[in-house]
Amino acid sequence: MKQKNAPIAVFDSGVGGISVLRELVALMPNENYIYLGDSANAPYGTRPVEEIRALTLANVDILLEQGAKALVVACNTATSAAVRILRGMYPELPIVGIEPALKPAALHHPGGRIAVLATNMTLRQEKFAALLEHYRSQAGIIPVPASELVEYVERGELDSPALFSLIKHILGRHLDAPADAIVLGCTHFPFVRPVIERAAPHTVIYDGGNGTAREARRQLYAMELTNPSSEPGSIEIQNSSGDPDKIMLCYQLLDA
Ligand code: DGL
Repeated sequence: MKQKNAPIAVFDSGVGGISVLRELVALMPNENYIYLGDSANAPYGTRPVEEIRALTLANVDILLEQGAKALVVACNTATSAAVRILRGMYPELPIVGIEPALKPAALHHPGGRIAVLATNMTLRQEKFAALLEHYRSQAGIIPVPASELVEYVERGELDSPALFSLIKHILGRHLDAPADAIVLGCTHFPFVRPVIERAAPHTVIYDGGNGTAREARRQLYAMELTNPSSEPGSIEIQNSSGDPDKIMLCYQLLDA
């Protein structure tokens, strides 16, 4: 039986999953968290799926050895590559993955054009094909591979003329007219959202971080695993790179 005050483990390929951690903390401030970013191996989204799977399983193992009561895979790429396997390996553990927030986008823009910005790998996976199939009758879904943006966020370059031009270029490569909505299908992208908003004015942006945090809370309640403490919980950030600047960047992003 897991302890109710045990930490919630949060995993991402790098610093991006902090966008999900901040939603978790906002929703459940009394929980304890351990966050692990695998920046030594980021970006994941341009690697073969077998490699992403192996890296994800190894890192989740490191997190679970620290006694976590639940796991949030705060990475769309790792979720599509490995969440099913993780659920098979840890049947007792609440495991929440993240996927591009197509549901609210399709609901609010029926018949509209919805661009999904995600890593090349996320857009190639079966999970995304199933989402596409599900929503294709409700709206025009346009996959926009945007792995290049991940490295900007990893090095803390969140706003610059080069980043703005790159985002313009990526959108222009796949859209012949502005989209009605953009879904941020990679957890690194909320950190460059203001630049995306400037590059695509009048486009509504959706991010799955809050929905993922709510699903985590729902599962913890259902399994009677919520922390009864009313004090603010602890947040421990770990990074496979061993680079103190990376950890510092994570704390800055958490407060952003
Ligand atoms: N943050 C990850 C995601 O949500 C991927 C970034 C990477 O390519 O490593 O997809």
